[in-house]
Amino acid sequence: MKGIILAGGSATRLQPLSMAISKQIMPVYDKPMIYYPLSTLMLAGIREVLVISTPRDLPMFRELLGDGSRLGMRLEYKVQHVPNGLAQAFVLGREFLAGDKGCLILGDNLFYGRGFTRMLRRAAAIEHGACIFGYYVKDPRAYGVVEFEQTDANDESSLRVISLEEKPQNPKSQYAVPGLYFYDETVCDKAAGLQPSARGEYEITDLNKVYLAEGSLRCELFGRGFAWLDTGSPDSLLDAGNFIATIQNRQGFYVSCIEEIAWRNGWISKEQLHNLGKQMSKTAYGQYILSLEV
Ligand code: DAU
Repeated sequence: MKGIILAGGSATRLQPLSMAISKQIMPVYDKPMIYYPLSTLMLAGIREVLVISTPRDLPMFRELLGDGSRLGMRLEYKVQHVPNGLAQAFVLGREFLAGDKGCLILGDNLFYGRGFTRMLRRAAAIEHGACIFGYYVKDPRAYGVVEFEQTDANDESSLRVISLEEKPQNPKSQYAVPGLYFYDETVCDKAAGLQPSARGEYEITDLNKVYLAEGSLRCELFGRGFAWLDTGSPDSLLDAGNFIATIQNRQGFYVSCIEEIAWRNGWISKEQLHNLGKQMSKTAYGQYILSLEV
């Protein structure tokens, strides 16, 4: 399976912050926002990633992350000229996926919680169909919303999706669909067949509906206590930064340290890890990487 990070859009809700730089490069505490979705893909075991962004912002991502070789990964880049929908990731990403399965994550979605890696590995092992997630929220009207039923009363994971709706006025459930989606190798053909929605976008929810109609859409729930954070407004960006700082400073473990994950995945050696840490040794981040070796 390969991964795609969609990191475009104009982030108007973050102006003036976003007037000259990409939202997904802004700091969430001590690292650029894109480190968080990138680390999610890495935890899923995904080693080849396509970053999609605007013509203005793509060069900055390339400068930040390079070709991925320092992490033992392969990174590619692709421009999205017009932000006309999330499902476009699989039109722009067709060549990159080259018939492989694909995982899409939005560049502004942060996840953190116990059992996450296990869930990711399970979803990435998908043979056929698609896997999406559900997350209970107070007000789901700003999201894709999934309605489901439990088919086995004794098995919380036995969910059958009944319906999907994009930003409904009257949601049929409290479960929002986060920006993390796993698809089989038919995804590019399915995305190519979509029509724009009433708001003129190629909707990811419509892509998921194709899998639902086919009877091959799986949904897993993130439990209570799991963090799916928003970064779309100045307040939520600050909250996300404070959340990461609190966890890191309390536990001493870093959240989404991409160098650490690459090393734990066995993609880079101890020596390579050490060299990466040394380059940033004046910072707490670099010192953390150096401390991992003992
Ligand atoms: O965050 C999860 C939600 O993301 C889902 O629940 C919804 O089903 C899904 O449609 C999406 O809703 P948003 O309202 O958050 O989508 P938005 O248009 O804000 O785009 C999400 C991010 O993707 C944003 O950072 C900008 C980027 N983007 C968006 C579009 C439409 C692109 O890079 N290219 C695009 O064409």
